[in-house]
Amino acid sequence: MRVLLIGSGGREHALAWKIAASPVLTKLYAAPGNPGIGRDAELVKLDIADHAAVAAFCAEKKIDLVVVGPEGPLVAGIADDLRAAGIRVFGPSRAAARLEGSKGFTKDLCAKYDIPTAAYGRFGDLASARVHVQNMGAPIVIKADGLAAGKGVTVAMTLPEALAALDACFDGSFGQAGAEVVVEEFLVGEEASFFCLCDGVTALPFGTAQDHKRVGDGDTGPNTGGMGAYSPAPVMTQVMIDRTMREIVEPTMRGMAETGAPFSGVLFAGLIITDKGPQLIEYNTRFGDPECQVLMMRLKDDLLVLLNASVDGQLAHTSVRWRDEAALTVVMAARGYPGTPEKGSVIRGLEEAAGDGVEIFHAGTAINSGALVANGGRVLNVTALGRTVGEAQKKAYAALDRIDWPQGFCRRDIGWQAVAREQAGA
Ligand code: AMP
Ligand code: GLY
Repeated sequence: MRVLLIGSGGREHALAWKIAASPVLTKLYAAPGNPGIGRDAELVKLDIADHAAVAAFCAEKKIDLVVVGPEGPLVAGIADDLRAAGIRVFGPSRAAARLEGSKGFTKDLCAKYDIPTAAYGRFGDLASARVHVQNMGAPIVIKADGLAAGKGVTVAMTLPEALAALDACFDGSFGQAGAEVVVEEFLVGEEASFFCLCDGVTALPFGTAQDHKRVGDGDTGPNTGGMGAYSPAPVMTQVMIDRTMREIVEPTMRGMAETGAPFSGVLFAGLIITDKGPQLIEYNTRFGDPECQVLMMRLKDDLLVLLNASVDGQLAHTSVRWRDEAALTVVMAARGYPGTPEKGSVIRGLEEAAGDGVEIFHAGTAINSGALVANGGRVLNVTALGRTVGEAQKKAYAALDRIDWPQGFCRRDIGWQAVAREQAGA
C-alpha cells in the first residue's frame, strides 16, 4: 500500500514511525514532513494548502491512502477535495471537522443531544458578553470560537481577568477565530484525553492519555500545545470509558450523522472527570500532539490496517490491542516558547540518547548545513515505555539528559499525577 502522510510535527513523526512498521506498506511519502520523519518516509515538497496539487501528486504516485495529521488542512476541507478526486483519505470532512473548528457548533450539538458539558453562552459582541460575564462572576472560562492554536482559551479566576480576555478576543488578537466568543462555566476535576477511531457510524475506543498544557513545572505559566503526556490515563477506568462512550461519543456520532456530517477519522475528546462523571471540554478531530506519540508507542496492532478499517467503514468488526506498559513523552522546546522561539541552535546526541524502549520523535527540527537545528517551538519528543508511568518517566528523562542541546528546555515533572498515584498505591 502506498501512503501519503500530511503534516510535519511530532505527532506526524510518531504516525510515520508506526505506519513504516506495517507489513502492508510498500511506500510512504510525507508532506512536508521533518528530518525525523525523513528517516521513515520520503519527504515531498508539496504545498498542502493547494489541494489540487496534493490530488495531482496522489494520482501521479498512485497513492492508496492519505493520512492527515493536523487540524488546519481538515478544517480547510482537504479530505473533501481529495475524496472528490477519488482518493481515499483518513480524516474528517470539513463539515465534520467543525467539531474542532467551531466551539459554538460543538456546544450546540451537546445541548441538542444532551451531552454533558459545561454550561455556556455564545456571544458575537463585546457588550452582551461583558453583561453575561458580570452576571455569572468568576471563576469563568472565555474561549475564542475558532482555531487559535490552543491559545484562545482563558480560565479566568477573577472578573478583571475574564473581562480582559473578552477584550482580547474582540479586539482581534485571534483574528476571525475571536469574532465570536463562548463563555463557559468553570468545571473542577481531573483532565483526560480520550481517543476513538471513527468510520461515520462506529466509534472504536483508541486509548487514553493525559497531557500537560502549562509551560512550567507544577502546571504553572501560560498554556502551550502540550509539554508532555502519558498513557494510559489512570482516571479513565473501564467504567469511565464506558460512560464516556455512552454519554458523550455515541450521541456525538449519532448527531453528526443526523446533521448530514457523519464523522470519520480520529475523534479526540478532551474531558474533565467531575464528581458527576465525564464532561466534555472540547473535541479535536485529529490525534493529540504529543498524545499521539504515547499512543503509538503502546499500540500493538498494525496502524495502517486500523486506518484502512476506518476509511472502509469496517470498525464494527475491528478490535485494538495495546501493550501492557505505560508510555510517557517529554517535550523539549526551544527557549522563548510558547512565545517566539529561538531558531537555529544545533542539537546533538540523539542517536546516543534513543534505543532500549526510547524513541525520539522530531517536531520543529530542520537540517542546516548538515546539522540538525531547532526550527520551531516544540522541537523534540523524548518518549519511553516502562512497566509503570514512573519507570517510563525515569527512562525518558535519562535519555533526554543525554541530548546535547543547551538552548532547549523541558518540564521536569511530566507524569507527576500518575507517579504520585503509583507511589501512594505501592
Ligand atoms: P481547550 O483549548 O478548550 O482544551 O481549553 C484549554 C484548557 O482550559 C483545558 O485543557 C482546561 O484545562 C481548561 N478549560 C477549558 N474549559 C474549561 C472549563 N469549562 N472549566 C475548567 N477548565 C477548563
Ligand atoms: N495536546 C493537545 C492537542 O493536541 O490539542
